[in-house]
Amino acid sequence: MIWTGREFIITGTRVSCRHLMKNTFLASVIVVICQLMLATNVSAESIDQLVLSMSQKLADLNSLNESIVRGKLRVRLCQYCHGKDGNSVKNEIPNLAQQNPVYLLTQFEYFRTNQRTNTVMNRLAKGLSREERINIALYYASQEVKVDKTAMKTDLASINRGSRIYNKTCVNCHGKKGYGERTLPRIAGQKFEFLSKTLTAYKNKEAVRPDSPMVGVSSGLSEEDILSLANYVSQIN
Ligand code: HEC
Ligand code: HEC
Repeated sequence: MIWTGREFIITGTRVSCRHLMKNTFLASVIVVICQLMLATNVSAESIDQLVLSMSQKLADLNSLNESIVRGKLRVRLCQYCHGKDGNSVKNEIPNLAQQNPVYLLTQFEYFRTNQRTNTVMNRLAKGLSREERINIALYYASQEVKVDKTAMKTDLASINRGSRIYNKTCVNCHGKKGYGERTLPRIAGQKFEFLSKTLTAYKNKEAVRPDSPMVGVSSGLSEEDILSLANYVSQIN
């Protein structure tokens, strides 16, 4: 649909405003289309804008350090679950330490807009300012993840099996060492329970993150594959 200044051109047909006024139905359809286009543009722009602002801070050591200090002061709301240093306090809650900052920020936006659903996170994400969201993401990303190596001693066969599946199915997106990049999450050193719970949710197409490429990736995994992958991935660092 193109607006020439005097008339709309809809798929090659010219529609003047006089025509529109006579045809109120068509006019209301166009208004709805315009509103939808504006709404999608606004949210798509603001997330890019936000990532751009964060990238500018990342590129300048002084403003990066300032952001990290400010972020640390704002994690009081988060530390109860994700830990003060981003190593979460419970196995089913994800570590945020050493996670890619672009991933942290974009997922937080998805919680804000309910594109990703979790009751607590949806509520919390709406209460922070733009600067706070950027600073918290930079702070947690700057912390070191503490890898739990206990599985290594107990389940070597499962870890080896997980490693084989990982190198066949996951490596292209999450990288050789599981570090990911930008919007691809780091999964190396992530909590075992969170990994197995999340992979199972993707596999069962639970409506938590319905548009994720992970839904297709996980559909062919068996329960044993998921446990082996979680064993392997949780102890890489
Ligand atoms: C009451 C516990 C709780 C609190 C408090 C909390 N979170 Fe979360 N958070 C969770 C859980 C649980 C998940 C995983 C949701 C899921 O399974 O999809 C999560 C997921 C996330 C994710 C996505 C991580 C990933 O690996 O996909 C980010 C980012 C995040 N939280 C940031 C924050 C920030 C920032 C705060 C503080 C403002 C916060 N959370 C406070 C429980 C909490
Ligand atoms: C086509 C690219 C692609 C492939 C292949 C892929 N992933 Fe993912 N994965 C993603 C993206 C993108 C996300 C980000 C969140 C989302 O979209 O759900 C993600 C998210 C995840 C998460 C959630 C991380 C978090 O912190 O919330 C886990 C766990 C995961 N992937 C594990 C795997 C495993 C294990 C494999 C191999 C069996 C795999 N992925 C293969 C793209 C991929």
